[in-house]
Amino acid sequence: MPDILAGLKQSFAAPAAQLQSIAVRFQSEIEDGLAGNSSSLKMLRSLLGVPTGGEKGDFLSLDLGGTNARAVWIKLLGNGRYIQKQREVISLNSGRDYRSELVQAHELFSFLAELVEQLARANPGGYEGLGFTFSFPYRQLGHTRAELVQWTKEFRTAGVVGKNVGQLLQDALTSRNLPAGPELKVVINDTVGTLLTASYNDRDAHVGSILGTGHNTCYLEPHEPDSGEPMIINLESGNFGNLPITPFDAELDRESGNPGQQRLEKMVSGKYLGEIFRLAVRHLIRHGFCLGQSMPQFFDAPYSLSSEDMSTILADTSAPLAGVRAWFEQQAAVFTSTYSDRAVLKGTALMIAQRSSRLAAATYLGILRHLDPELGRHHTIAIDGSLYEKMPGYAANLAQALSEILGGKSALVTVKPVHDASQVGAAIAAAMLSAGTTQSENPGTSSI
Ligand code: GLC
Repeated sequence: MPDILAGLKQSFAAPAAQLQSIAVRFQSEIEDGLAGNSSSLKMLRSLLGVPTGGEKGDFLSLDLGGTNARAVWIKLLGNGRYIQKQREVISLNSGRDYRSELVQAHELFSFLAELVEQLARANPGGYEGLGFTFSFPYRQLGHTRAELVQWTKEFRTAGVVGKNVGQLLQDALTSRNLPAGPELKVVINDTVGTLLTASYNDRDAHVGSILGTGHNTCYLEPHEPDSGEPMIINLESGNFGNLPITPFDAELDRESGNPGQQRLEKMVSGKYLGEIFRLAVRHLIRHGFCLGQSMPQFFDAPYSLSSEDMSTILADTSAPLAGVRAWFEQQAAVFTSTYSDRAVLKGTALMIAQRSSRLAAATYLGILRHLDPELGRHHTIAIDGSLYEKMPGYAANLAQALSEILGGKSALVTVKPVHDASQVGAAIAAAMLSAGTTQSENPGTSSI
């Protein structure tokens, strides 16, 4: 292997010893954050414990993620069972770009309220409430009081930071004059939705994580300091920093909308993996290790490569890498590629995807070390998101990294894929509040 490729491989490698030391640091940032000391982890209280499994009924959930907005009618049947009765999904990439700084808060929330309205008008009445999954860092000041701390995932919509998104949504719903408007019961983060969905029928679910457009994790803190009660805490782990980086990570961060922030997310999540890949491949092309030094325009345009492109490339297991050739032609307008060009492309995608899953695994170990230092009992780590679900080899690499760092104890940790977590989780949270099975809005004054 030429030196430059070997060097690249080494700079993206995250060997087990490095993961162990990341886990130790992650644990101490959790503990600093919990104690109110300075920490890169925001440790945002959710004011929610976990469901009993007895939550039932018809709920609406609204979900604003990194890529789509969805409104869904969900019937909860208890103990992990539910039916999705109907859904409205809109990609944030189609039509007006509500993520842009040119869009005002009321426009974004009126668009979201319209989605809820479409669903509620098609099926009027009968809902016990609405849960809103807002997949950004916000301070939970009440179940429906959620103040956005900052945008992430390159969102820039004007007039939302510092505002109560529960109120913005409620106002937008009210101004639509829905006949029997569903009452907003709760705002949750998508990681919280993932953990709620898993714990709807699994008492051992202690960690919920998203590996999708964004990356973040929450966990069930057995002794939330203010209340002394169990509470789910959103770590906003995407902001974990001080990691060994490559020049590509540094460049991506410099050019991003929030330099210096969300450093882990920028190395792990689907929003950014394609761009790291583009920067690495551009470097290889410039140095003559791919496509003979002539730089196709495609590789010069920021964010031209996505994590879906990486998945397409990684999925090609044919001997001549015919799928990679087709990708070069159709996506990058590169009509002549050698086998070596294609192998270099695929090998680079693999290094970047592997590093992503290994870093995520290290943070999970950090949480487990905090929860159960001797690792003496069983824990479920629930994961949702397109990277984990769809990127070839991703889930297997994550499992491999966990078994390297947990050794013989890895049998005590189950990684469980959870589907539709943002929607189902919001319905479960709304049901927990309807049934009064959860914490009051003033932690410290009531128990779960
Ligand atoms: C970003 C958001 C976080 C969310 C994650 C996954 O990291 O800051 O709140 O959970 O994306 O969607």
